[in-house]
Amino acid sequence: MIARILPSDVYAEECFDDPDGPPLFPAEEALIAKAVDKRRREFTTVRRCARRALGRLGVPPVPLLPGERGAPGWPPGVVGSMTHCTGYRAAVVADADRVLTLGIDAEPALPLPEGVLEAVASETERKRLLDLAADRPDIPWDRLLFSAKESVYKAWFPLTTRWLDFAEADVDFDPAAGTFAARLLIADRPLDGFAGRWQVDAGIALTAIVVAKAG
Ligand SMILES: CC(C)(COP(=O)(O)OP(=O)(O)OC[C@H]1O[C@@H](n2cnc3c(N)ncnc32)[C@H](O)[C@@H]1OP(=O)(O)O)[C@@H](O)C(=O)NCCC(=O)NCCS
Repeated sequence: MIARILPSDVYAEECFDDPDGPPLFPAEEALIAKAVDKRRREFTTVRRCARRALGRLGVPPVPLLPGERGAPGWPPGVVGSMTHCTGYRAAVVADADRVLTLGIDAEPALPLPEGVLEAVASETERKRLLDLAADRPDIPWDRLLFSAKESVYKAWFPLTTRWLDFAEADVDFDPAAGTFAARLLIADRPLDGFAGRWQVDAGIALTAIVVAKAG
């Protein structure tokens, strides 16, 4: 499903449940020794997805451990991103010679809980969502905006190792094209923003950002 919003040089693997599979590496197992069942399942399945995706890049299985601020440590020469939510797990990887950074996020395709939109969206963004909802009431635009900002952060952090606040990106959707533009609203930045794609299918709202390497 997620492959539909990715270019062909980004390898994606996804799961809608938690099938049996190879065990975690001991270093990964140690990280979730005390985790609740939901976290354990998501952590395990998404890493199996990631290792399958890495295999398609020719990279043998390795532990995928969280580094600074939770960002996953990928093998040398690889960029990637992972996401999990109820009913969905996905990992994407690409050759770092071709792709600068990646960010993906999945959310249940349901309206955000009350009060969350006000915390993550500007007044301008909220006005745009009202217009979008008038046009396409079938799409949970508030949830997609949240997801787009999570994808922005996941693409931003490995590039900069800096925090980015929800107020520091302006997300604007193109409903017909299935795309969005995220403009960065901070002065000190390595790029002006990110271009992404979105999709709502099978009860899952998905967003993805892929920044190709220049040249
Ligand atoms: C880190 C964050 C983006 C994760 O998103 P989420 O919707 O809660 O959870 P998801 O399941 O989609 O993604 C979790 C995965 O994100 C990845 N991740 C976590 N921190 C990350 C970081 N700093 N950079 C990149 N990826 C990160 C990990 O792979 C994690 O999975 P794992 O814990 O199994 O390794 C979110 O919790 C967060 O901190 N957001 C605040 C920052 C933000 O979004 N700012 C908005 C800027 S416009």
